[in-house]
Amino acid sequence: MLAALMMAPLMMATLGVARADSPGGLDPIALRQAGYALQGGDFAYIRSVVKAKGDVKPLEVPAKAISKWGRVIPTLFPKGSETGENTKALPKIWSDPEGFQKIALALVQASDKLATDAKAGATDMVDADTKELGKQCGACHKAYRAK
Ligand code: HEC
Repeated sequence: MLAALMMAPLMMATLGVARADSPGGLDPIALRQAGYALQGGDFAYIRSVVKAKGDVKPLEVPAKAISKWGRVIPTLFPKGSETGENTKALPKIWSDPEGFQKIALALVQASDKLATDAKAGATDMVDADTKELGKQCGACHKAYRAK
C-alpha cells in the first residue's frame, strides 16, 4: 500500500525533471529507468511480505501497478533511445522486438494472477505467483539488459 501511495507523486516528480531536461518532450530513457526503479520497489515490497508470511491482501495494489507498467514497457524503447545517458538497454530489444514484448506480456499475466490471488487472500498461490513474476524479471534482464 505504502509503495503504491508513494508511486504517484514520485512518478510526477520524475516526469517534471525529464521535461525540464528535454523541452521537446518526454525523455524515454529517464522515463523507463524511473518506471523500472519504482517497479523494483513494488516487487521488493511484495517479496518482503511473502517472505515474512504477512497479509497478502494489500499486495493486490502493487501487483496491479506492475501489470499496468508491463503494458507500457514495449512503448518506452522508441528508435533513437538505443544509446545515451546510462542506458543498459541492449540492442537486442530493437532487433528482436517480438521476444521482448513476449516477456513484457508474461510479466503482465504473472502480475494479474498475483493481484487476483492476493485479493482472494490465497497466500500459497501468491507465494508461487511471486516466484513466477520474479522469473520474468530475470528472463528479460538476462536477454535484454546489460550487466
Ligand atoms: C520486458 C523486459 C523487462 C522485464 C519484464 C523487467 N525488466 Fe527490469 N529492466 C529492463 C531493461 C531493458 C532495463 C534497463 C533500462 C535502461 O537502462 O534503459 C531494466 C532496468 C531495471 C532496473 C534499473 C532501473 C534504474 O534505476 O535504472 C530495475 C531496478 C529493474 N529493471 C527491476 C525489474 C524488476 C523487479 C522486474 C520484475 C518485476 C523487471 N525489472 C522486469 C527490462 C525488463
